[in-house]
Amino acid sequence: MSGYLHGLECTKCDAYYQGDTTRALCDCGSPLLVRYELEAIRKAVTPKDIACRLPSMWRYRELLPVRDDKAIVTMREGFTPLIPAERLAGELGIGEVYIKDEGTNPTGTFKARGASAAISRWKELGVTKFCQPTVGSGGHAWAAYGARAGVEIHTALPVDCPEIGWKGCSISGAHVYRVDGTVTDVFRIMKDGAERYGWLYAGALREPYRVEGKKTMGIEVAEQLGWELPDVIFYPTGGGVGIIGMWKVFDELEALGWISGRRPRMVSVQCTGGSVVKAFNNGKEECEACPDVPTIAPGIMVAKPFSDFLILRALYASKGWAVAVSDDEILHFMAWVGRHEGIFLSPEGAATVAGAHRMVQQGQLDRSHKVVFFNTATGLRYPHLIQGQPPIIPGSGNIDPA
Ligand SMILES: Cc1ncc(COP(=O)(O)O)c(C=O)c1O
Ligand SMILES: [Zn+2]
Repeated sequence: MSGYLHGLECTKCDAYYQGDTTRALCDCGSPLLVRYELEAIRKAVTPKDIACRLPSMWRYRELLPVRDDKAIVTMREGFTPLIPAERLAGELGIGEVYIKDEGTNPTGTFKARGASAAISRWKELGVTKFCQPTVGSGGHAWAAYGARAGVEIHTALPVDCPEIGWKGCSISGAHVYRVDGTVTDVFRIMKDGAERYGWLYAGALREPYRVEGKKTMGIEVAEQLGWELPDVIFYPTGGGVGIIGMWKVFDELEALGWISGRRPRMVSVQCTGGSVVKAFNNGKEECEACPDVPTIAPGIMVAKPFSDFLILRALYASKGWAVAVSDDEILHFMAWVGRHEGIFLSPEGAATVAGAHRMVQQGQLDRSHKVVFFNTATGLRYPHLIQGQPPIIPGSGNIDPA
């Protein structure tokens, strides 16, 4: 199979780069998005064909950017469970609730999708050295897929990130650097390394293929709900790759005739002080850089996402919302969902639940709605957030439940 990639389109000017190219950004400096031969895909494949394929994101092969199947670097990422959560629905006062559990991906996060798509495509194009700023999860995924592909990965993260971040990168043989500074410092240091040493800078939307992997989250939600979309999607937003990708793929699915016109409201959830929330509340088209506020959910604290304008476009176009939640609200819902649904959410995933709780309180959501929460990582990556300790009894003792 030679793939259906047609070219790369600029998100700001009218530049279009047809065919195969190793460019990562437009000449104007803006992000590029992959365009496909959708008419040819429509004739070649149907949702019925897809239903018979392996449960991984590569079941949507025609909508992914790799030319040759042999180039695909995969560990069966994607096709994660969409878990109904009835007790949570009752607690929140929402009609139907599903948790899209990205924690079952290789390396325990949704970042596996982007790493699989991007490393596959870049290696196919002959690019073999990458760098990736991270708060832990992205670096780990790129390190793991880099190891599988046999390419070189450099990754840096703030020194105060959970240890699993750098340990995961180390076990996969990546070059890992711990930065005694903020995420913004990490971005600068990686960008500088890319310029000096010729690494491909694989930050959010700094190249066009990671978002292609992440968009498969949107296709899966549609397929798992019988090719219908929910009323609202809550997404913990950092660089915005997931929300931009899902909004893009809804256009593609509509053009293919696989979904009808009804789209979900897209809701970005961030930590208190998040720049997307501030810009949304002020009706702005771009974010102003916010200070790096320490938080237990580092994935959703980005001072100014490179593709802020694309996140905001998706929020406005979907009549969505943006909401900031506190660490206390996040911890509350991590504990509640763990105790009543058995799912160990990441703090980023718990933030989406806290965001919905706010929307219900403000009368924007009720029992007539069907919603999907994205748990973008397994809570197992955050053992340091579990509060309290069980009692220790001597080996010669007995249990006294009182
Ligand atoms: C667990 C987790 N959730 C969400 C995000 C934000 O992802 P996106 O770039 O798709 O907005 C990140 C980013 O690092 C993350 O690690
Ligand atoms: Zn351009």
